[in-house]
Amino acid sequence: MNFEHISVLLEETIENLNIKENGIYVDGTLGGGGHSLEIVKKLGKNGKLIGIDQDEQALKAAKLRLKDYQDKTVFVKNNFVHIDKVLEDLHIEKVDGVILDIGVSSHQLDEGERGFSYMKDAPLDMRMDQDQELSAFTVVNEYPKEFLTEIFYKYGEEKWSKRIAEKIAEERQDQKIATTLDLVEVLDHAIPKKVQRQIQGHFAKRVFQAIRIEVNQELRVLEEVIPKVVERLKPGGRLCIITFHSLEDRIVKNSFKELNKDCICPPEIPVCVCDHRRKVKIITRKPIEAMETEKENNARSRSAKLRVCEKV
Ligand SMILES: C[S@@+](CC[C@H](N)C(=O)[O-])C[C@H]1O[C@@H](n2cnc3c(N)ncnc32)[C@H](O)[C@@H]1O
Repeated sequence: MNFEHISVLLEETIENLNIKENGIYVDGTLGGGGHSLEIVKKLGKNGKLIGIDQDEQALKAAKLRLKDYQDKTVFVKNNFVHIDKVLEDLHIEKVDGVILDIGVSSHQLDEGERGFSYMKDAPLDMRMDQDQELSAFTVVNEYPKEFLTEIFYKYGEEKWSKRIAEKIAEERQDQKIATTLDLVEVLDHAIPKKVQRQIQGHFAKRVFQAIRIEVNQELRVLEEVIPKVVERLKPGGRLCIITFHSLEDRIVKNSFKELNKDCICPPEIPVCVCDHRRKVKIITRKPIEAMETEKENNARSRSAKLRVCEKV
């Protein structure tokens, strides 16, 4: 298996993780192990890297890439949202740093049969975790059309979401929409040709993205994991998150802001009753973006944003 994925904002992330020789680090989105490899290179005899991914193929690829560092690495197949369970199983209470490089890998997109791509025909799947039940097939064929409209609009910022959802509901009455190219055909009929010509990139891109986010519950798990990670960081420990979508970046930005606040009582309450104490300091007031050279060499990096916070 050839695992093609160029790590994004690699130097910037490693620099911001402030790696300590004997620290314990978690890569919650191992992928091809690109970021992890740079982390383990900096670890000393007692340093550890815990690499988590929900995709079996990613774990396989990362294990191979990190094979020279077996004494310093532990690999876990799980969703990063279960970080508490992962650390408990390993009898680890606190860690020195966590990285999350959110979203799909290029490998997942390129492997036609995973059903992520609107360019390659395959069963509608899009599950990062192949053991998960919910797939793109269920979303497309069983979700009520109102729900589909909302998903396409919210997660794909698709202006034609209502019309697309209606067309899907109509088509699936006769026959299930079984493959990626079946869905592309439905979209082709739903989105007027003139609009298709004006869209930057492929006309199916936004709907495919929206379905993928829904199938993998990408926004929900991101929102849930941030406070969990912060609880698990040692003072001075850092959390680095790379996102590729404005909705994800907003979640990271707002979560960091919330965790940075001392009191979260409503303004009309004169005396603090919430006992909320600041848990992090924000290292990146503005997100770090890729340099021009990286953007030229890796199209994925163009929308990447890195935000970093530090446990106080
Ligand atoms: C962008 S890639 C990471 C690439 C990696 N940083 C590298 O440099 O090779 C994202 C990876 O995270 C995994 N992933 C995404 N969401 C996840 C989640 N909630 N839990 C566990 N793994 C997740 C995907 O399966 C994919 O392999």
